[in-house]
Amino acid sequence: MRHLRRIFDLEPEEARFLVQRGLEIKRRLKSGIPHQPLLGRILGLIFEKPSTRTRVSFEAAMLRLGGQTIFLSSRDLQLSRGEPLKDTARVLSRYVDGLVVRTFGQEVVEELAAHATVPVINGLSDKFHPCQVLSDVLTVVETGRPLEGLKVAWVGDGNNMANSWIEAAALFGFELRLACPEGYDPAEDVLSEARSRGAKIILTRDPVEAVSGAEVVNTDVWASMGQEEEAEERRRVFQPYQVNAELLKHAAPEAIVLHCLPAHRGEEITEEVLEGPRSVVWEQSENKMWLHAAVLEWLLA
Ligand code: CP
Ligand code: NVA
Repeated sequence: MRHLRRIFDLEPEEARFLVQRGLEIKRRLKSGIPHQPLLGRILGLIFEKPSTRTRVSFEAAMLRLGGQTIFLSSRDLQLSRGEPLKDTARVLSRYVDGLVVRTFGQEVVEELAAHATVPVINGLSDKFHPCQVLSDVLTVVETGRPLEGLKVAWVGDGNNMANSWIEAAALFGFELRLACPEGYDPAEDVLSEARSRGAKIILTRDPVEAVSGAEVVNTDVWASMGQEEEAEERRRVFQPYQVNAELLKHAAPEAIVLHCLPAHRGEEITEEVLEGPRSVVWEQSENKMWLHAAVLEWLLA
């Protein structure tokens, strides 16, 4: 039995397989060929934070593959009244065939996985957002860009998304350049593990340096879920890290722009860029469903 707590739970060939499989399932279902490997399977989703895309794309993927879902807002579970995670994990494992969890601390994902007897999938924690980044890689591959030698820029917060991009760089072999303000770097342990696996990662304070010649430019919100009280301070610190038309002049001529959404127009990205010709964000959000389909088929079929 396997879990997907972070991208480093995967071998490089497994990560590549999931991306290719997601594209295959997309082609197959879009051309009307039935594919229901998860008939009779049930996925539970425990969410401690809001979600539009991750929740609905996991549930839709499960239903499209013939399975069913049970959505569990954490405030409706006894978890909210102090029932231990290890008890919750063992009980829910007897009802469902897999669990997606969206939470704060990564240790919640780890603890659930340690005690669950079904696969546990991280649907975002404060530290990682593995399925999002795998589906973002799928989106890049779908545009025909080879990952070999690809230059990817990350501009903004060294957050859960940045940490997962760092792990993806180690597994897929592209070059990743991150521009983060001082005090907002990605996790040191993630960086050093990725580097020890041979990842090509450049960390700078300068967004222009990160974006120069990049074929993929990525950003994310300045204040993640749970950081609402820091939002004002972050708006001040992150101002020079906005992805706008001026910054994109330094990127490769055919560069695409990714944003996992939700976006804050006028903060980390301008309306012009988000709605402009380089933006692939709508395809990117659709592709979450296809990558999740591949993950669910792989773990639960
Ligand atoms: N990108 C993403 O995870 O969006 P949601 O918060 O809507 O799930
Ligand atoms: N970094 C953001 C991603 C949202 C999908 C957050 O954690 O809120």
